[in-house]
Amino acid sequence: MLTVDIDNLSYIYADGTAALTAVSLQINTGESVALVGANGAGKSTLLHHLNGLLTPTAGHIHICDQPLNSKTLARIRRHIGMVFQNPDDQLFMTNVIEDVCFGPLNLGLTPQQALKVAREALDQVGVLSLQDRTPCRLSDGEKRRVAIAGVLATSPEILVLDEPTSGLDPWARRQLIDLLKNITHTRLIATHDFDLVHALCERTIVLSEGKIVADGPTALILTDDFLNSSPTTASNDC
Ligand SMILES: Nc1ncnc2c1ncn2[C@@H]1O[C@H](COP(=O)(O)OP(=O)(O)OP(=O)(O)O)[C@@H](O)[C@H]1O
Ligand SMILES: [Mg+2]
Repeated sequence: MLTVDIDNLSYIYADGTAALTAVSLQINTGESVALVGANGAGKSTLLHHLNGLLTPTAGHIHICDQPLNSKTLARIRRHIGMVFQNPDDQLFMTNVIEDVCFGPLNLGLTPQQALKVAREALDQVGVLSLQDRTPCRLSDGEKRRVAIAGVLATSPEILVLDEPTSGLDPWARRQLIDLLKNITHTRLIATHDFDLVHALCERTIVLSEGKIVADGPTALILTDDFLNSSPTTASNDC
């Protein structure tokens, strides 16, 4: 089954910046796909379309065979678990457990059910001990884990992660990669971290100036030639 189907997506920001031009891609159920490209290539812009944060200037998106539009958005958001580039955009409650309960409560679970799935999700990502802490006072790595727990608690079919390892120390980064290895979802991960791509994604899509310039098996895309020549090496995140 096609889980994500993007057809000829273009997006122009209000100031006239053409961030995406005629992007088409399909992701099948169970695939783990990396989205790489230099700073400003359009990765976050593309991801923000998948849960309706941005509306295409042109083109169409289907998620789990449903067209993404204002009528289907609420339903489709249940399928997508989005972890933002900046965890501070995601964590806004006064303590961690409330934050992780927020999604399940929104889906209609009772407070007891929400608490149960929230604790399970925090446990799954190894931060149950943080449940009473204030999110804004956590370290970056802790915030990222809590943000991931927040989306896992809603049992999404598709996990969309925007630079999950950026800003993490090498140990936290390694731990997060290992953690994600054990979470099997259809995944789309925007990243500059090529170790993560090799560890988690069998397929890689390369964006350059808002266009897809390569899409194929990671082993064929992330060759030494590509890494030496591509502007995607410009980031110092990896
Ligand atoms: N709110 C905005 N208004 C105008 N232009 C924007 C806005 N947000 C992003 N852009 C522009 O859109 C293009 C794509 O940005 P985007 O954030 O999608 O890139 P990215 O690939 O995620 O980059 P990074 O690796 O730095 O996270 C860039 O040229 C950027 O300057
Ligand atoms: Mg980005």
